[in-house]
Amino acid sequence: MLTQRLILTGDDQHDRPLIEQAGAIIRAGGLVAFPTETVYGLGADAYNPVALQRIFQAKGRPAWDPLIVHVATPQQILELTSGIPDLALPLIQRFMPGSLTLILPKSDRVSTIITAGRDTVGIRMPSHPVAQALIRASGVPIAAPSANRFGRPSPTNADHVLHDLAGAIEAVLDGGETPRGVESTILDLTTDPPTLLRPGAVPLEAIEETIGTVRLLTEMLPRGMSLPAPGTMARHYAPRVPLLLSAPTPEALYGTVKDSLTQYEWVGVLRPRGWSLPDNGHLIVFEWGTWGEWDTLAQKLFYALRWLEGQGVHAIVAPLPPAEGLARAVRDRLTRASNPEQ
Ligand code: TXA
Ligand code: MG
Repeated sequence: MLTQRLILTGDDQHDRPLIEQAGAIIRAGGLVAFPTETVYGLGADAYNPVALQRIFQAKGRPAWDPLIVHVATPQQILELTSGIPDLALPLIQRFMPGSLTLILPKSDRVSTIITAGRDTVGIRMPSHPVAQALIRASGVPIAAPSANRFGRPSPTNADHVLHDLAGAIEAVLDGGETPRGVESTILDLTTDPPTLLRPGAVPLEAIEETIGTVRLLTEMLPRGMSLPAPGTMARHYAPRVPLLLSAPTPEALYGTVKDSLTQYEWVGVLRPRGWSLPDNGHLIVFEWGTWGEWDTLAQKLFYALRWLEGQGVHAIVAPLPPAEGLARAVRDRLTRASNPEQ
């Protein structure tokens, strides 16, 4: 299959026909990757079971891992759910559009292919203008996982998408780098209290400020065990080479890098600005940004992992951020990516 790259410029006159074209592909049962404010998604008509099956094939994703449905209007949320819990209202008001995915009771219209047989559905209203325009142009809700091969780091630009999926999808809408760089926060509202299934671009603190205490899902269970969110399994988001994590100090990073050089010939490092590194080995350094500026560090995380891997390093070293604010999402992704259990 030929995959088209539809390059957007931000100029409406130029972009409009390309978005209409992408919407027509979705309506015809095709697959279109598109930017959201978090990461690129791999979209299909949520009401077309054949198109939904193709998402799983293109990604190499197991059928037990459910999909998020992306909507552009509150009306579409009503269409996809059966009963909105009270706690959903202030969250919808504050975070939709935005980077929060809510797990809600599904309506009959939602295919079990999307939900992997569950009676709940994950719903998100992305804030990215291209994502919104695509959903409107296609006229249907769009089911979309991240547009990477299963288990790989999520794509934050169109090159990442094409690296993983060229030849398996009809088109990618190329809207440049995604601004947040980590996936949406997933909150299950069908439990009491609600459960954080995946920390993400919306900090837990902002959610708790809105609805009170949320239960955390902290255990990392071995692959294959039944999980509330299959994407929370131990190894995920992973580069193809070992990822070694250090404590979050310049001294600890220095030490971990030095040790790694005794084991690996070429080592890649995600280096916070100003942190020093040993100068006696084969290091490839990705300048990550100022430690503590989590917006920037999150935005560059998956880019950094894919870039270092592309440089041919044998291992990657990074300091592990604290479990607070947006850093919690970065910490979660690094921890999963470093889990040697396959
Ligand atoms: O930011 C994001 O959320 C991106 C963009 C494209 O929207 N999407 C994304 O999708 O990260 P994906 O499929 O890579 O991760 C979604 C996670 C999966 O781990 C899936 O298991 C979980 O959401 N999920 C989806 N529906 C669910 C449900 N009904 N119950 C529990 N978990 C669900
Ligand atoms: Mg994913």
